[in-house]
Amino acid sequence: MKILGIETSCDDTGIAIIEIQGKNKPSFSVLANGVSSQIKIHRPYGGVYPNLAKREHQKNLPTVLKAALRKAKLSAKTPGIGAIALTYGPGLDPCLWTGIEFAKKKAKEWGIPIIPVNHMEGHLLVSLFSKGKSFAMPRTKTVLPAISLIVSGGHTEIVLMAGIGRYAILGETLDDAAGECFDKTARILGLSYPGGPVIAKLAEETCLRNRGVRARRRFLEPKLPRPMINARNYDFSFSGLKTAVLYDWQSRTDRVRKSDAYVKAMAKEIQQAIIDILLSKTVRAAQEYDAKSVILGGGVAANQELRTQLKCKLFKEKPGALLFMAPPGLCTDNGLMVALAGFAHYKERTKNFRTIGSEPNLRLE
Ligand code: KG4
Ligand code: ZN
Repeated sequence: MKILGIETSCDDTGIAIIEIQGKNKPSFSVLANGVSSQIKIHRPYGGVYPNLAKREHQKNLPTVLKAALRKAKLSAKTPGIGAIALTYGPGLDPCLWTGIEFAKKKAKEWGIPIIPVNHMEGHLLVSLFSKGKSFAMPRTKTVLPAISLIVSGGHTEIVLMAGIGRYAILGETLDDAAGECFDKTARILGLSYPGGPVIAKLAEETCLRNRGVRARRRFLEPKLPRPMINARNYDFSFSGLKTAVLYDWQSRTDRVRKSDAYVKAMAKEIQQAIIDILLSKTVRAAQEYDAKSVILGGGVAANQELRTQLKCKLFKEKPGALLFMAPPGLCTDNGLMVALAGFAHYKERTKNFRTIGSEPNLRLE
């Protein structure tokens, strides 16, 4: 069977087609996975502008679908697809609705059902099913219970997974999400949107330079707080970190602010503060719940330093736990994660297209 996945919850228009092989231990071939990114359009605003994003999704969906069908060598009229998996929340309402309307039209035209998918579960399952570059459902006995850290532009949560569809949110952010913190602090430093990849790149450049002779700096190294790192719960708060970056930036002379050395040192400290907070809570949760595995997902999971440090910390502090991460290119929003999550719920959640609506504040529990 083939499933088509549609993702339009934020600023990426994603469409993927997967083919499922095997019944007891299903594996997946990715026939197509196309994403049309709107980053350039939203960059001048420093964030996603919902109505602009909606208009772009409307424009992009038919083209991305056409390209996906062509890539999968399927006919546009009778593609032989069994169901459409679709993100119906959480996300920006106008964007979700664009995907819903498009999916309804196609489901009616092809006479197939729709599987509503929770975007956060998509991030989680694309990582769990990922085996390097191929995808398969792992044996639940060996991986569950699992602790999942889902970190994106809109969410940051630690989730206890007891099975597919069986989740408990142990903690989440009380204000900004980790990705949002990257984006907002980048903006303070005058860097472009989205901030995560830009900060990661600058932080890496600092590390490379530090391997040689350490340059003498004409300013004090920025030192940021790690809010809530010692709180005995699994909640996060990133807005204080953003404010600390702003205060530090305001306290500097114009010359320091504009210097490459300051921006890079600050980028490195922002990234490390976020990593320290995320990892301390995730590994503590893995120990407390005696997790057999840890799953890292969401756009921020593309961060190389976060991936490396999580691997090291788990190895030292929760030896034996498996670590699941999708390849960096599949951590940010895409149609494949939706198609995979759709398959996971194919049996119990398949719906007639008439009954689907958006849920912008949908939760995983
Ligand atoms: O999951 P995602 O694509 O969209 C949402 O569901 O929100 O996540 C986007 C977020 C942005 O905040 C972006 O800055 C962040 O992921 N991001 C990164 C990296 N790549 C994307 N953050 C840190 N390091 C990266 N390499
Ligand atoms: Zn996302």
